[in-house]
Amino acid sequence: MRTSLALSLFATTALAIWPLPVSYTNGSETLWIDQNVKISYNGGNSSSNNTWTSKIVNNAIERTYDTLLNKNFVPWMFQERNSDFEPKLTSTSTYITSIVLQQNASDPSNIMKPDVGDVDESYTLSMATTGEVTITAMSSIGLSYGLTTFTQLFFKHGNAACAYTTVAPVEISDKPMFGWRGMNIDTARTFKPMSELYAIIDAMAYNKMNRFHWHITDSQSWPLVIPAMPELAEKGAYASFQQYSPEEVQALQEYGALVGVEVVMEIDQPGHTSAIGYAYPELISAFNLQPWYWYAAETPAGTFKLNSTEVPEFLERLFDDLLPRLKPLTAYFHLGGDEVNANASTQDETVRSNKTSVLRPLLQKFMDRNQDQLASADFIPLVWEEMLLDWKLTLPMNTIVQTWISEQSVLEVVKQGYRALVGASSTWYLDCGHGDWVDHLQGADARDAYPYLDWCGPVHNWRQMYAYDPLEGIPDHLAYLVIGGETHIWSEQTDAYNLQPMLWPRTCAASEVLWSGAKDEQGKNRSQILASPRLNEMRERLVARGIRAEPVQMPYCTQNGTQCVQ
Ligand SMILES: *[C@@H]1O[C@H](CO)[C@@H](O)[C@H](O)[C@H]1NC(C)=O
Ligand SMILES: *[C@@H]1O[C@H](CO)[C@@H](O)[C@H](O)[C@H]1NC(C)=O
Ligand SMILES: *[C@@H]1O[C@H](CO)[C@@H](O)[C@H](O)[C@H]1NC(C)=O
Ligand SMILES: *[C@@H]1O[C@H](CO)[C@@H](O)[C@H](O)[C@H]1NC(C)=O
Ligand SMILES: *[C@@H]1O[C@H](CO)[C@@H](O)[C@H](O)[C@H]1NC(C)=O
Ligand SMILES: *[C@@H]1O[C@H](CO)[C@@H](O)[C@H](O)[C@H]1NC(C)=O
Ligand SMILES: *[C@@H]1O[C@H](CO)[C@@H](O)[C@H](O)[C@H]1NC(C)=O
Ligand SMILES: *[C@@H]1O[C@H](CO)[C@@H](O)[C@H](O)[C@H]1NC(C)=O
Ligand SMILES: *[C@@H]1O[C@H](CO)[C@@H](O)[C@H](O)[C@H]1NC(C)=O
Repeated sequence: MRTSLALSLFATTALAIWPLPVSYTNGSETLWIDQNVKISYNGGNSSSNNTWTSKIVNNAIERTYDTLLNKNFVPWMFQERNSDFEPKLTSTSTYITSIVLQQNASDPSNIMKPDVGDVDESYTLSMATTGEVTITAMSSIGLSYGLTTFTQLFFKHGNAACAYTTVAPVEISDKPMFGWRGMNIDTARTFKPMSELYAIIDAMAYNKMNRFHWHITDSQSWPLVIPAMPELAEKGAYASFQQYSPEEVQALQEYGALVGVEVVMEIDQPGHTSAIGYAYPELISAFNLQPWYWYAAETPAGTFKLNSTEVPEFLERLFDDLLPRLKPLTAYFHLGGDEVNANASTQDETVRSNKTSVLRPLLQKFMDRNQDQLASADFIPLVWEEMLLDWKLTLPMNTIVQTWISEQSVLEVVKQGYRALVGASSTWYLDCGHGDWVDHLQGADARDAYPYLDWCGPVHNWRQMYAYDPLEGIPDHLAYLVIGGETHIWSEQTDAYNLQPMLWPRTCAASEVLWSGAKDEQGKNRSQILASPRLNEMRERLVARGIRAEPVQMPYCTQNGTQCVQ
């Protein structure tokens, strides 16, 4: 039975496997599970000596017990008002006796730092009414996804120290549509404590997402400690307690690698670099110059000087320090490259021009130096789309080009043969719609800006995010170059206080598009009526994990199926 029937089943139940599996069938028997369940692993391939494999599997097993028994929820919200819906535990109730994890192949040696396509993320799950469960996968990460799906079949029981499912037997076969399922976190405009970053990775993994894009520095602050250049963070961070040490960065990478979420760091440049000017003023043109909007898309102005001999020396030292430390746990480094402001170079004494014909060759040289250093350190580069589409730079063909300006940019990138990431401001920006964050001058100007909306509002709600198809307008023969995408949380107005509700559950909508695709098996756009009960339930599961995800609908809508429809 394939997805067509599965979808009609989902219409009548809030069974919240999120993202939706490729194929799923269920029955209606009840099974129980408690801490006595044995989870065994066949050890993968005996000829493999990858220590990450056992670490990943052991971690997944521990998380499975924790999720099922400690981070689960009572689903009153999906049952008739005041009903006695819970199954009764009796002496003849059947428990899940064993969960067998079978890995069909050994992990690639770079399982902790893969490029897209290196890891087979597929899995199968089979749950018999006798209480035997088998999960198979080609990789440890696939097993981890199978276990994640398994936990989503169970609910906490209100009066017993165990959980239950009412849909045995279950057969699932699953794999992702896109290899890069990411989120971009800005920790420069506002700082995020490490605990928040761990919580993001945990929730991402629960959505089977696999890339944490860490936009760690920007014009507003430089929180990243670089031991070879201590003044960068000492002077560039907002405060001494708002820094990320090398140990913290590495610990986050490790936490992510264990759940299949690769941490991909970005040092945005040559724009978005004013914070470097606190420690190295000689490198930055138009540093904090007013009015800032002549020289930058956002305050404060400041950009690398493009024809200075000191800037390349600085970058060489910076990357020589940083890249070897990141290397063990990532294949990628993001070179930034968005919103280069030509006018700032009129203030740059090494250039004194804002002409494209003057700046383009300087940018090419700047990019070539960065790319050479990345290549010799064996990193795969990412850049923002402007480097290719606006400045028309020549880039190595393994460069991943991240689009954001428009949905149409994706086609422009793949037409040139580059791998593209989707996530346009019109669709997958999570920060939009909260109003302007700059103050307006008194007088007529202030009224002109009334009611002080931001540039990319309104808020992109989950339905809008869910309705986006990364392959829209992409010819079939180029679709393989669309490797996935990211949601983005630019953080002028988002800090630890409101971060989680800003991310969740809206990013779940993107995670399902990236895992399951935007179209169902008949090639039709996926239905929000079918998604909504599952998303409501996924939200409850995230809350049970300690994630402050916003509600999707009121219980009135969820207690009686999908009745809030118009
Ligand atoms: C699958 O589960 C739902 C309840 O979640 C149930 O309504 C349906 O009958 C089940 N399918 C079968 C074939 O038992
Ligand atoms: C085992 O580890 C050694 C040293 O790290 C490596 O050279 C070898 O290729 C590994 N073998 C397998 C099967 O992964
Ligand atoms: C085990 O690993 C070896 C070497 O990587 C491979 O040749 C063999 O096919 C693998 N066995 C299975 C069952 O996947
Ligand atoms: C693993 O192998 C079994 C046969 O032993 C097969 O049924 C299953 O589909 C395989 N799993 C995956 C994810 O390919
Ligand atoms: C560029 O800067 C000059 C002053 O240096 C200013 O007059 C001009 O308005 C700026 N251009 C833009 C597009 O902001
Ligand atoms: C280029 O610089 C000139 C001189 O400062 C300025 O008048 C003009 O607005 C600038 N053009 C752009 C596109 O910023
Ligand atoms: C860059 O700097 C060099 C050396 O100072 C100078 O000769 C050259 O004209 C500059 N290039 C541009 C485009 O300003
Ligand atoms: C399906 O989604 C696409 C966007 O990916 C949209 O352009 C199209 O109008 C949708 N079709 C229907 C029938 O809603
Ligand atoms: C539940 O929804 C159905 C329509 O989907 C409606 O006929 C029924 O009256 C609703 N029941 C309650 C108690 O609201």
